[in-house]
Amino acid sequence: MSKQQEQEIAKRRTFGIISHPDAGKTTLTEKLLLYGGAINMAGAVKSRKADRHATSDWMAIEQERGISVTTSVMKFTYGNYEVNLLDTPGHQDFSEDTYRVLTAVDSAIMVIDSAKGVEAQTEKLMEVCRMRNTPLITFINKLDREGMEPLDILADIENKLQIECTPMSWPIGMGKTFKGVYNIYKKQIHLFTAGQGNRDQNGITIESLDDPRLDEIIGSHDAQNLRDDIELLEGAANPFEYDHYLSASQTPVFFGSAVNNFGVQELLNAFVEMAPPPNVRAAASRDVSPFEEDFSGFVFKIQANMDPAHRDRIAFFRICSGKFVRGMKVKHHRLGKDITLSNATIFMAQDRANVEEAWPGDIIGLHNHGTIKIGDTFTQKELLKFTGIPNFAPEHFRRIILKNPLKMKQLQKGLQQLAEEGAIQVFRPQIGASYIMGAVGVLQFEVTVARLKNEYGVEALYEPIDFQAARWVECADKKKLAEFEQKNQGALATDAEGFLTYLAQNEWMLNFFMEKWPEVKFHKTRENV
Ligand code: G4P
Repeated sequence: MSKQQEQEIAKRRTFGIISHPDAGKTTLTEKLLLYGGAINMAGAVKSRKADRHATSDWMAIEQERGISVTTSVMKFTYGNYEVNLLDTPGHQDFSEDTYRVLTAVDSAIMVIDSAKGVEAQTEKLMEVCRMRNTPLITFINKLDREGMEPLDILADIENKLQIECTPMSWPIGMGKTFKGVYNIYKKQIHLFTAGQGNRDQNGITIESLDDPRLDEIIGSHDAQNLRDDIELLEGAANPFEYDHYLSASQTPVFFGSAVNNFGVQELLNAFVEMAPPPNVRAAASRDVSPFEEDFSGFVFKIQANMDPAHRDRIAFFRICSGKFVRGMKVKHHRLGKDITLSNATIFMAQDRANVEEAWPGDIIGLHNHGTIKIGDTFTQKELLKFTGIPNFAPEHFRRIILKNPLKMKQLQKGLQQLAEEGAIQVFRPQIGASYIMGAVGVLQFEVTVARLKNEYGVEALYEPIDFQAARWVECADKKKLAEFEQKNQGALATDAEGFLTYLAQNEWMLNFFMEKWPEVKFHKTRENV
């Protein structure tokens, strides 16, 4: 390994932001990009979001694609750090991509709305973070509004997400009486001023909370409350342990207000210092260190390109080790052949640029004419297969109906390709001749039907179907599996890769089945092969 490789790895931070819709992810993203100098206009990210959600019409999505490709990965420089922020799409475009992006990050920031506490989508995303023990920093947002008591928010996070909270800062007042935050470790008071402009980011250092200056700065009432709170925290809260953060058993917590640009720079400073650089990744045969000289990485997302006529797609590739150099030859694990990475793209916050070289932690975009699938691994010498980039069990289901039955072949081809791209999951029930689509977010159905029409010339409709959960099933005892299959044909299907899947009408049925068939394993994720 070269000295340069060591330095490049040390300065890289690749992360995603997880939150429930409306907690403030877009606002925070925008402020982070402003600090990174990646955008110079407040509102840039926001307006894209507004456009994107104004309609779920596919043609509009189509036009937006150019934008959504570039916002999928936002790379910026901050101080000595090279930051890659991966977008985890939310709202209507919540899909498996949202989950899979989290398999490509080294850490995450979780945004919580102080009035709402932990919400449903955060819980789901957290489940994915837990699969790889992704280190998490928490930002409690909207302190300028009346919200829950800070201690109650921490308790809510600890209860619902099963992760220990360690406050790094503490709010002084809230809503109308919000005065700022006290940075517990730096012993500094940061005073809040509303507004979006630049503000003085330097805090006022207070060596001891007994200092009478505190009363002058924030008033005696708040000063006393802060003293009481901090005293309570010293007795009750968990002290920050770096190892616990890295192993994802503890999350450092910051308070602020993204829209007012308050607490954001403190968060960013702490993030670049604390968050881990690219780490070891698991491959099927061994673990791969980023410091290895040979290049390796995997595809975690595929996005249809802007020009549907070309059926060209971009594969998002996370570099895990070595150095990427334009034009290099690599081994394609699944196809078992060599390919040349000639025209890779790197994503800057606003532009795309051709990459000459890239390092572990970086995301590059590869043009793909159908030879690249999600989960594919490319390596320089040794054939390896990275694991942990799975399919996630869909939560919504629709039956697909062909308007013209003569177009069956085109439908099959379209569904197969869209499934490979990760746009949708496709199941073939054991009984009946129809196809069932499964998705993590409902917008995926609309997109699939529109793309079948535009790209494959297939007119199809979808109709509701009575399933709410899916699990991939497996059983070491072949006889038992045969019995299970035979008795439950009506609820069984095979996915696009031919894996046996159980479709349940609801969670209750699923649990009932799992109890009834203890020998059968029901998996919520399936590794890509
Ligand atoms: P999301 O990406 O997580 O969905 O959230 P987003 O940033 O879009 O924020 C959701 C709403 O919350 C926005 O208001 C945004 O302005 C507001 N918001 C974000 N941070 C703060 C904060 O610190 N304090 C307060 N009071 N509000 C905040 P909106 O009305 O939906 O949009 P807009 O009209 O303000 O653009």
